[in-house]
Amino acid sequence: MSGEGERLAELAKRRGYFFGASGAYGGAAGFYTFGPQGAALKSNVEDAWRDRFTVREGNFEIEAPTIMPEPVFEASGHLDGFDDMLVECPDCGESHRADHLIEDNTSIEDAESLPVADVEDLLGDHGIRCPNCGGDLAEEAVTQFNLMFETTIGPGSSTPGYLRPETAQGIFVEFPRIKEYARNSLPFGVTQIGRAYRNEISPRKSIVRTREFTQAELEQFVDPERDDPDLDRVADVEVTLYPVTEQEADGGAYVETTIGAAVEEGIVGDAWIGYFLGIAQEWYEGVGVDTDRFRFRQHLPGERAHYAADCWDAESEVDGDWIEVAGFAYRGDYDLSKHAEYGDDDFTVFREFEEPRTVERAVVEPDMSVLGPEYGSEAADVAAALEELADRNPAAFDGDEVQVTVGGETRTVDSDVANFRIEERTVNGEHITPHVIEPSFGVDRTVYTLLAHAYREDEVGDETRTYLSLSPTVAPTDVGVFPLVSNVPELVDRAEGVVDDLRRAGFSVTYDDSGSIGRRYRRQDEVGTPFCVTVDRDGLEGDGPDTVTVRERDSARQVRLPIESLSTELEAVMDG
Ligand code: GAP
Repeated sequence: MSGEGERLAELAKRRGYFFGASGAYGGAAGFYTFGPQGAALKSNVEDAWRDRFTVREGNFEIEAPTIMPEPVFEASGHLDGFDDMLVECPDCGESHRADHLIEDNTSIEDAESLPVADVEDLLGDHGIRCPNCGGDLAEEAVTQFNLMFETTIGPGSSTPGYLRPETAQGIFVEFPRIKEYARNSLPFGVTQIGRAYRNEISPRKSIVRTREFTQAELEQFVDPERDDPDLDRVADVEVTLYPVTEQEADGGAYVETTIGAAVEEGIVGDAWIGYFLGIAQEWYEGVGVDTDRFRFRQHLPGERAHYAADCWDAESEVDGDWIEVAGFAYRGDYDLSKHAEYGDDDFTVFREFEEPRTVERAVVEPDMSVLGPEYGSEAADVAAALEELADRNPAAFDGDEVQVTVGGETRTVDSDVANFRIEERTVNGEHITPHVIEPSFGVDRTVYTLLAHAYREDEVGDETRTYLSLSPTVAPTDVGVFPLVSNVPELVDRAEGVVDDLRRAGFSVTYDDSGSIGRRYRRQDEVGTPFCVTVDRDGLEGDGPDTVTVRERDSARQVRLPIESLSTELEAVMDG
């Protein structure tokens, strides 16, 4: 971490935004505590996200457990495939992500997608050394390390469980129940804001890569043949895109365009992804991300997660590095199909046809008095295999005999014995597995970006001040209230009265009567409080209504306002 990152980490610790957890016991790498300011900022970011992605979209929010049993992650593919490449230093024992070492020391940008053997070779070819002690990594083995935290459920340690590595699986697993609330009718979206856990090999950049973090995820379930998003709502939203074609081209450049044009020209191939990029752009802008330091980058083919057919990341620039703050993935029917295969529930919805259709179905009514003697102990299995085949492939019964596989052997069954035929029937619809488009936001990285993009230094009077130009939508404290001096009871009483009034009106307020007024302003500037109110004698001794001084953070401009209209005036400025 350097420059901007270091300044931010120092300010974050000093002013109660965030700091390494469990410091009294030497700390635990990759775990952070959000202090009073940080917890409030994070909670405001979550509320703003909930308002935009759940409430305004008409979606359902759920809260699933953070620990789930092993079969869930067998089905989701995380048990097998949620790995990072690990190399250990032979001298100091420090673990490193081998792909990160390659990216940091060569011009290769996507080492994660390379085979392990190639990464091992590259470590040697480039003479890459341990960043901690300089140890030689050339001869070291690179292994795949699964990032999930394992635990056991209940005493006796017989049931393995895992802390969820993404909130998404809690939504997929509950799909059979949630679809009922959506009246089995697509499209609908389900959101969840909650903790996710990854045993990262090398946590880094303070809260950017941690082992416990918060995600805000939306799983949009759609019928891929019928459902389109309302693109008009975001068609004019301006975005900076970095598609695969540009990343792979010599001298590739960003594409500055609108969502409407990007989807029409096929730069963003899927309309749903385009739609979510549009509302994400507006949302990030609304909470205070600097749009000049923000872009959407499409994943290179080797970079995509095991479930994703296409994926775009929202990236913010901090300290010269681009950080992935959110991912927008087309997950297709991957997850629901997997849970249908491994689990015991119905992960489909019923798609009604516009007109009823006539379809063929195979009817099998085996004569067990014949099947029994002919197939002996296998007879029941043959009957079951026939029924399964009839469901799966009715056309197979369009003859005098049919072949089924039982115990690995092919059996030919006669139509007389199995008593099968093909019938026509009229159906009103069919069961389909919905497709999923997933916008997945990292809340901690959003908080980090907001702090970095809000960080300012300027001159006020003859002093250099540091301040956070946070948007009033997310700033942890709305108003700081001060009596000019703390030893005049009348001023203190009046200031406390102002605090009560503002809190009753719904503002988050800090009261401060210690130190010079200048120092108190600086403190609030550093935590990003948009307004400060000072109660002084002049304001209480006039003929008219009592007044106070209101100071705006960024401009440091001061105006006098009557106490009685304070909350209405502040509300108007903050909303406006
Ligand atoms: N359900 C999809 C999913 O989990 P992801 O790209 O692995 O996708 C989504 O994670 C977001 O979660 C990322 O864009 C990032 O903002 C955040 N995130 C992932 N790993 C993180 C970590 N170790 N520390 C902090 N945030 C993380």
